[in-house]
Amino acid sequence: MKSLLTLNPYFFRYKYYFLLGVVFVVLSNLFAIYPAQMVRSSFDLVALNIDKIDNLKDPTERKAFMDVMEVAVLKFGLLIVAMALLRGLFLFFMRQTIIVMSRHIEFDQKNDIYEQYQNLPLSFYRRNNTGDLMARISEDVSRIRMYTGPAIMYGINLLVLFVMVISYMVSVNAEFTMYVLLPLPVLSISVYFINTEIEKRSDLIQKSLSNLSTFVQEAFSGIRVIKAYGREQDSADKFAEESNEYRHRSIQLGNVNAWFSPLILSLIGISTILTVYVGGQQAIQGKVSTGNIAEFLIYVNMLTWPVTSLGWVISIAQRAAVSQTRINEFLDNKSEIVSVENRETPIRGVIEFQNVSFTYADTGIEALKNVSFKASPGQSIGILGNTGCGKSTLANLVVRLFDAGSGQILIDGQPIQSWNPRSLRKQMSYVQQDVFLFSDTIRNNILFGNPELGEAEMRNASLQSDLLENVEGFENKFETMIGERGITLSGGQKQRVSIARALVLKPRVLILDDCLSAVDTRTENTILSHLKEEMKDKTTLIISHRISSVNLADTILVMDEGRIVQSGNHDELIKVDGPYKALYEKQLVTEERGTDL
Ligand SMILES: Nc1ncnc2c1ncn2[C@@H]1O[C@H](COP(=O)(O)OP(=O)(O)OP(=O)(O)O)[C@@H](O)[C@H]1O
Ligand SMILES: [Mg+2]
Repeated sequence: MKSLLTLNPYFFRYKYYFLLGVVFVVLSNLFAIYPAQMVRSSFDLVALNIDKIDNLKDPTERKAFMDVMEVAVLKFGLLIVAMALLRGLFLFFMRQTIIVMSRHIEFDQKNDIYEQYQNLPLSFYRRNNTGDLMARISEDVSRIRMYTGPAIMYGINLLVLFVMVISYMVSVNAEFTMYVLLPLPVLSISVYFINTEIEKRSDLIQKSLSNLSTFVQEAFSGIRVIKAYGREQDSADKFAEESNEYRHRSIQLGNVNAWFSPLILSLIGISTILTVYVGGQQAIQGKVSTGNIAEFLIYVNMLTWPVTSLGWVISIAQRAAVSQTRINEFLDNKSEIVSVENRETPIRGVIEFQNVSFTYADTGIEALKNVSFKASPGQSIGILGNTGCGKSTLANLVVRLFDAGSGQILIDGQPIQSWNPRSLRKQMSYVQQDVFLFSDTIRNNILFGNPELGEAEMRNASLQSDLLENVEGFENKFETMIGERGITLSGGQKQRVSIARALVLKPRVLILDDCLSAVDTRTENTILSHLKEEMKDKTTLIISHRISSVNLADTILVMDEGRIVQSGNHDELIKVDGPYKALYEKQLVTEERGTDL
C-alpha cells in the first residue's frame, strides 16, 4: 500500500476540500446520533409517565397530563425531523467536498499521465501495447479515484462514527454494547472476501471485454482482407467464441453478487435480534432502560453500512495501490532523450554522422554500422538500399527519435545532444515511411505542424507536392474529410498529403523516407524538381529503393546491411562496377518492360 503515498501531493493540493469534508462528516454524524438519543428520551418519558397516568383517578387531571405528554413527544418528533434534515444537508456537503476533490485529483492525474506519454521515447511505445497504455489512463486512474473519493469518504465516516457512537454506547452499558456489536466484524470480514472475489471476477470480465473489442476492432480494420479471402464465417465463429467467454464470466460474477445482499441482511437481522433479546434481559434486570434498547437499535442500523463498507474500503484501497504502482512504474520512466545544453537557436542544417553505429535494444538488431557522411545546406543526399538495410533507422537518428549507440551525430557542428530535441524536430520535417494521417480535413492535416499558417502557404505546399490538382477535384476541396469519417485517399495521395504537411513548415532539413514509392515516375519527377527549387539553400535527405528517386541527388549513399558501401553522384556511380550499377541496370530493365517497382 506504500504506493498510495505518492498521492499525498494531490491531497495536499486539495487540502481544503479534504479538511472541510472531514468537518462535514463529523457534523453529519452528530446529527445522526442526537436523534437516537431523543428517541431514547421520548421512550423513557413515556415509560416513566405511563405508570403515573395509571395512578391518576381524576379524568380531567388525566386529560391534562396526557396533553402535556403529547406536546412533549410531538416536540421530540419535530426535533428529530429537523435534525434529519440537517444531517441530509451535511451529507450533501460531505459529497460535495470529498467526491469533488477526487474528481480534481483524477483530472490532474490524467493530465500528468498524458504529459508523460508525450515525453516518453518511441522505444517505450514498442515495449508496451496500446491497450495497456490506454488502461493506465482510464482504468487505473478511475480505480484510484474510487479510493480518493468514496473509499476515503466512507473510511473517515466509519472512523468518526465509531469513535462517537461506540464510546457513547460503552458508556451506557459495556456488556450490552459487546453483544450488539458481535456480528459486525463477521459482516466486515465477509464483505471483504466477497468484494475481493467480485473485483477479481470483474477484472476477468474486463479482460474478456477488451479481448472482444480488440478482436472486433481488428476485424473492422481488416475487413477488406477478410472479405477478399472469404473468411467471414470464421471471423463470426471466432467472435462467438470470444463473446461466449464474456457471457460465461459475467454469469460467474452474477453468482457471487447474488450472495451479497442476503448475507448482509441476515447479519443485520442477527444484530437486531441480539439487541432486542440482550436488551430485554438487561432491562428486566434494571441495567438499561427501554429507551436504551430503542436507541441501540438505531445505532446498530447506523453502524451496519459503515461496517459493511470497511471490507469494501479495504479492497478498494488494495486495488488502488496496485493501480498506483503500475502508474508509478511508468511515471518513473525517464526519457533518455534529454538535452545537455538545451540549445534552441535556429539551425543552418549541417548534418554530420561520424562512425555512427546503432543497435535496437529490444531486438538486438544492429541496424547501422560505422556510418559516416556529411550533408550541408543546399545539398541533397540520396540514400539507396534494399529493404531492411537501415535507411529509416538513419532518418530516425537524424531527428533524434533514438540516440546513436556509438559515434557522434553533429548538427551545425554541435553534438545532437546539445540541442533541445523538440526545437530541433520543429526545424526539420521528416516524412515517415508509413504515412499516418488524422481523421480530419485535408487542410488540418497539411497545417498540422503549424495551424497558424495561412491559405497561401497551404496552397503552395500542395502545389509543390503535386497535390493541388487532386484536391481541387474533390467536392469540398481542402475541407474534405479523410480517414474513418470521410473519403479514403489512394496510397499516392496520402503520401503527397504527408509531403505537403512537411513542406508547409519550410524546414531547414527535409527527410523523405520512401514517400514517393506509391506515385508514378512522372509525378515523382514533378515533385522532385519542385523540391529542388524549394530546398535550394536547405538540406534534403531522400530515402528510397528506387534509383529514379535518388539519381538527381548531389550525393548518393548506397547502403547494404547497415553500412554505406558506395557514395558519389549518379554519373560517378554508374561508371564503376558495384551495387549501384547493378541496381540501375536491373531497374532499367523493369522500367522498360513497363512495370513500376
Ligand atoms: N523499432 C525497431 N525495433 C527493432 N528493430 C527494428 C526497428 N525498426 C527497424 N528494425 C530493424 O532494423 C533493421 C533496419 O530497419 P530499417 O527500418 O532501418 O530498414 P529500411 O532500410 O528502412 O527498410 P525499408 O526499405 O524496408 O523501409 C531491420 O532489420 C529491422 O528489422
Ligand atoms: Mg524504411
